[in-house]
Amino acid sequence: MSNLVKITIDGTEVEVPEGTTILDAAPKARAFIPTLCFLKGLNNLASCRMCSVAVEGQSQMVTACNTPVREGMAIDTKSDRVKRHRRQVMELILADYQPDPQRDPARAGQNQLERVAKMVGVDTARFAAPDPNATRMPLVDDNPFLSFDPNICIRCQRCVAACNEGAHNHILGTEHRGARWSIKAPFGPDWNASTCESCGCCAGACPTGAITEKRTRHYTPQGVKRVRSTCPHCAVGCQINFLVKDGAVVDAEAVNGPSNKGLLCVKGRSASFDFATADDRLTSPLIKNRATGKFEKATWDEALDLVAARLTHIRDTHGGDAIASFACSRSTNEDVYLFQKMTRVAFGTNNVDSCARV
Ligand code: SF4
Ligand code: SF4
Ligand code: SF4
Ligand code: FES
Repeated sequence: MSNLVKITIDGTEVEVPEGTTILDAAPKARAFIPTLCFLKGLNNLASCRMCSVAVEGQSQMVTACNTPVREGMAIDTKSDRVKRHRRQVMELILADYQPDPQRDPARAGQNQLERVAKMVGVDTARFAAPDPNATRMPLVDDNPFLSFDPNICIRCQRCVAACNEGAHNHILGTEHRGARWSIKAPFGPDWNASTCESCGCCAGACPTGAITEKRTRHYTPQGVKRVRSTCPHCAVGCQINFLVKDGAVVDAEAVNGPSNKGLLCVKGRSASFDFATADDRLTSPLIKNRATGKFEKATWDEALDLVAARLTHIRDTHGGDAIASFACSRSTNEDVYLFQKMTRVAFGTNNVDSCARV
């Protein structure tokens, strides 16, 4: 068990394990510290300084997201000095943030950056360029799924961390130096030559929508309802919010579940909902007509009777080992348990496996 250290946060004394960051310790004292660039377990570059707090005896503010506590530390998260500092940090960040003047007003105030700006009391970009159009850069928009708008990138590098450390795809990087420093996203004409898997983890991590999935253009954040679910595709069981608009699922976003920690692979992100309303979705069993070779609709009773009769016939004629069972990885644990039971007890064979071992 790790040693505990005693600290005070805004005058409240708390004990936390040695090595805890100030950010993680704050809730123990019911203190709230805003963050922007921080992504738990992925990005602690501390590049934005939004989480700045004051520590007694130190002249400079420290960043709560990557500073570990130490015995006797007295931390101030909400004095006027701290609040003033955060407002100035936000004003400097907004100097580089130039949303499209034509954007749908319904999208204003909806991304994390704009919500944090409001939270810390900043409603105007005091240091913004007088003529943003003079420096406006083109969209990187050739990728069919993803788009990058450098004009609203605040260089927090959450996307880079999500791609490299979360998805382990190592596609995103940075390019240029100084004021021209930018995210290098392979979403331009060369997108197909990159090894980007279109998993969308970068877009999911972006606090401004600079990297975004194109399908988000078809709805506004206020126009959808979120329904918590589990990805139907494999045994990892990633947690998902399905976004529902007018009774149809229009998008899926990662939830911070125990097995996925806020990430999804391309299947969960982009292939876990369209089929629900697909015109060619199978909605009843089909049995092949041996005379015509065509599949024809059948009832569940007809289909199950046929399968049972055929498998029984094979077992009785050739023995149970003539049968092998292979369970779909989308099945639940309970279904897979019953499946192996049926294979062993009813068919009399140990030939059973599953593709849930990914
Ligand atoms: S979509 Fe996935 S693989 Fe491609 S850049 Fe984004 S995080 Fe990396
Ligand atoms: S694209 Fe988004 S996540 Fe990446 S650095 Fe820019 S603002 Fe941050
Ligand atoms: S298919 Fe991908 S998103 Fe879905 S549960 Fe498996 S790993 Fe997670
Ligand atoms: S959130 Fe801590 S420095 Fe950005």
